[in-house]
Amino acid sequence: MARILLGVSGGIAAYKALELIRLATGAGHAVRVIQTPTSRRFVGAASFAALSGAPALSSEFSRDPMRGAFPDQPLPSHEPIGHLELVANADVLLIAPASANTIAKLAGGHAENLLTSAALAADCPLVIAPAMNNRMYEHAATQANIATLRERGATIVEPGSGRLASKGEHGVGRLAEPAELLAACERVLATSPGSAADANGAAAPGGNGAHAVKLLAGVRVLVTAGGTREPIDSVRYIGNSSSGRMGLALATVALERGAEVTLVAANVALPSAAGVRRVDVRTAAELQRACEQEFERCDVLLMAAAVADFAPAPAAGKIKKDGRDRLELVLEPTADVISGLAGHRHAGQTLVAFAAEHGADGLQSARGKLAAKGVDAVVLNDISRDGIGFDSTENEVTILTAASGVGTPAERHVARAAKEQIAAEILDAVEDLRALG
Ligand code: CTP
Repeated sequence: MARILLGVSGGIAAYKALELIRLATGAGHAVRVIQTPTSRRFVGAASFAALSGAPALSSEFSRDPMRGAFPDQPLPSHEPIGHLELVANADVLLIAPASANTIAKLAGGHAENLLTSAALAADCPLVIAPAMNNRMYEHAATQANIATLRERGATIVEPGSGRLASKGEHGVGRLAEPAELLAACERVLATSPGSAADANGAAAPGGNGAHAVKLLAGVRVLVTAGGTREPIDSVRYIGNSSSGRMGLALATVALERGAEVTLVAANVALPSAAGVRRVDVRTAAELQRACEQEFERCDVLLMAAAVADFAPAPAAGKIKKDGRDRLELVLEPTADVISGLAGHRHAGQTLVAFAAEHGADGLQSARGKLAAKGVDAVVLNDISRDGIGFDSTENEVTILTAASGVGTPAERHVARAAKEQIAAEILDAVEDLRALG
């Protein structure tokens, strides 16, 4: 159980903050809400108060009937300074949605409303979930502000891509889903010094006062993401439905833990976190070249990309129907990139492969890949199950490691969760492997 101080700024996505409160309180957390005055034009204080069980505040000059306490706390006998008492009691400050304006104010250190004043006074971890129009999000000013906040230790929950609020507009800028926001808070709390995770992995209260430990500080992490496309002719290709979300989540979480991250992205339409060095590729051969270039200087390789095992020799131009009643394609095997890299790995490198398998024999097959590919871990996901894995926001995996030291299980099952949460578990396993040497 933790105390989540939720800051809501102006934007259509403010309605998603209501669902977040429902999920958070359902999971046993206590929530208090601070709204910017503009956010009240989108969702009224009464809705937030009803769901959180405490008044939603928006002005420094209005009295907080709860005197800065969370719903699980007794009321203090004195009348404290509202926003200072609220942040002192909070284990995490989540700002969702964070508008371009609020992000700019936070980056500039402004304190001109209750939310920005509270953020400035907060020494608990800060989680920021931007939501805005894609052109506003991609503007250099917004990106620079986000990079500044990240450098100061804030955790950024990247917005998703898709249909935006303005009619006919598509792009990046949609607020992350409430389950992802809650997972991000729980992950941050679990890695914050002073907020020891309990036996179930949930964060314990009382963790205000410090940012997440940078466990991968200075570690160079190479991540591959997405799916390769092998051209058949000048316009067609053989591809797969990997969105790149798992690799992007790994890159983001590694960055949050202080790593220097390079992402080799195969046909990934989604944006990567500011601060990640990104190399875009299309085919298995391009991915192989990029990985070979980057591998020597990396400490950790996370091979999440779905790489084609076979590719056609592309025809010149566009293949015409030309009255034929069938078209046969001959596919030749591609190089197994991770096995090739494992063949010239150097001491101290940690290699993780991913295995997308169907059904009951998956575990056996993944165990085989651990040895055959010469890697330290294989992350198995069962693609026969609905709603997880390829092109979805959630996953459920089993992490198989070759290590057998005390306390390091050879197999760790990670229950269904947002891909950021799964990424955190995978990076925990990587840290265990690195500690074992
Ligand atoms: N991989 C790779 N190069 C390839 C194919 C796969 O580096 N040409 C990597 C993937 O990125 C993944 C791991 O190998 O990390 C497992 O991929 P998978 O396709 O499941 O395994 P395969 O060895 O191709 O076996 P199969 O498809 O027959 O199950």
